[in-house]
Amino acid sequence: MSMVQVTFVDVNGVERCVTGEGDLSLMELAKANGVDGIAADCGGACSCATCLVHVDPAWTDRTGTPDDIEFAMLDMVSDVATDSSRLACQIRLSTMLDGLRVVVAQQ
Ligand code: FES
Repeated sequence: MSMVQVTFVDVNGVERCVTGEGDLSLMELAKANGVDGIAADCGGACSCATCLVHVDPAWTDRTGTPDDIEFAMLDMVSDVATDSSRLACQIRLSTMLDGLRVVVAQQ
């Protein structure tokens, strides 16, 4: 299995670089490495928005766009979401996302 490296930036600007197998979701990678700010209360069912991240603009083309269900969840947290926001549980990692950089949203 290919490994993927992701940089998580916390609300204070502190960067944390973690590496994991490329078949995880971004949320699963964060949880497996104890990244702060990713509560993931619903376990990845796209129904809590506690895995909200802001994707670095340089990576939004590769992370893609939310589907209708994710978009509805993002709309519910529109006070903190931006155009580059995604739910980490809905981003499936791959070698294409090796080097991804995201900011963990303040909740
Ligand atoms: S873990 Fe609940 S929406 Fe992502």
